[in-house]
Amino acid sequence: MEKMLQIKKLAVSYHTYAGEVQAVRGISFDVLKGETVAIVGESGCGKSVTARAIMGLIQKPQGEVKPGSQILYKDQDIAKMSRRELRRYRGKESAIIFQDALSSLNPTMKVGKQIVEGLTAHSKISRSEARGKALDLLSKVGIPNPEKRINQYPHQFSGGMRQRVMIAIALACNPNLLIADEPTTALDVTIQAQILLLIKKLQKELGSSVIMITHDLGVVANMADRIVVMYAGRIVEAGTAEDIFYEPKHPYTVALLNAVPKISDEDEIAELEAIPGTPPDLIAPPIGCSFAARCKHCMEICVSHDPEQIEFAGEHRASCWLHHPDVIALLKKPQLEGANHE
Ligand SMILES: Nc1ncnc2c1ncn2[C@@H]1O[C@H](COP(=O)(O)OP(=O)(O)O)[C@@H](O)[C@H]1O
Ligand code: SF4
Ligand SMILES: [Mg+2]
Repeated sequence: MEKMLQIKKLAVSYHTYAGEVQAVRGISFDVLKGETVAIVGESGCGKSVTARAIMGLIQKPQGEVKPGSQILYKDQDIAKMSRRELRRYRGKESAIIFQDALSSLNPTMKVGKQIVEGLTAHSKISRSEARGKALDLLSKVGIPNPEKRINQYPHQFSGGMRQRVMIAIALACNPNLLIADEPTTALDVTIQAQILLLIKKLQKELGSSVIMITHDLGVVANMADRIVVMYAGRIVEAGTAEDIFYEPKHPYTVALLNAVPKISDEDEIAELEAIPGTPPDLIAPPIGCSFAARCKHCMEICVSHDPEQIEFAGEHRASCWLHHPDVIALLKKPQLEGANHE
């Protein structure tokens, strides 16, 4: 299938007074045409920074996309796009929905006008045509009374309705690539489910590719074709939704799965198993496996040597020493026995 997006060895740092925060540390994955890829991981693992990099929104000089990183949209390197191409890529080819609609929408502009502006900026349509399309979009995303709502300001909408407005704006130009960065985190569970269904339905209609970002694996169970699990700025495991849910290989993925609420027979939410400990400092990331300090299966080699990526069936891959074919032999090698832990 056609590759919409190819991320190759993407690394992004932030230069702060405390030092260089290595927010994303060399990640690679593809997004095919029409598929949904979920990026999952705890807060601070680099999901939003990845999203911003894909949109070409890392701001210099604090933010830096490191040399050697590549983001190809339909085989075109976004770092090499002209201003004009970049504007088109950001305004017409791709769109992003953020977690917090209230801070992303303009509070002083009627929502209708905000949608119309998006529509007229990138396509040659008249104002009245754009207004008609805006009404259409508002009803498409499930906002009742669009004729009345189009003249209201963001604060007059509930959280869920505001998120729908954001989706309408994002969809205004029929983007080929839609990034949803925790689009439902601020909403209650029922509305979350409605919004996710809506994104899925609109994606089917438009045939767009979607990158769905969330800290909750449960959210993407019914949505994602493929899942990328991030930890401390790296991809620790990636595969199809089936691979991740039924054949998880990385202890961090397993821990994330155990943190997903399970509905029991009595419809009660079972006790969650939170993941003890905290992620490492990204100014001085550990030499070995980033998850070592929190991993139940941590071995000596994990602390001293970064695990290589192991490939399983299909495109399933994970970086963990437990799956290394030579792990037993490696453990016996004398030079590793006394490996230092610093
Ligand atoms: N503007 C910034 N300046 C410094 N550090 C940042 C900035 N933005 C993000 N970071 C750091 O990058 C890391 C990844 O952040 P982010 O991608 O927002 O995580 P999340 O997975 O929760 O979306 C975090 O350690 C965060 O503190
Ligand atoms: S490499 Fe070692 S510490 Fe890291 S996840 Fe695998 S077993 Fe755990
Ligand atoms: Mg985020």
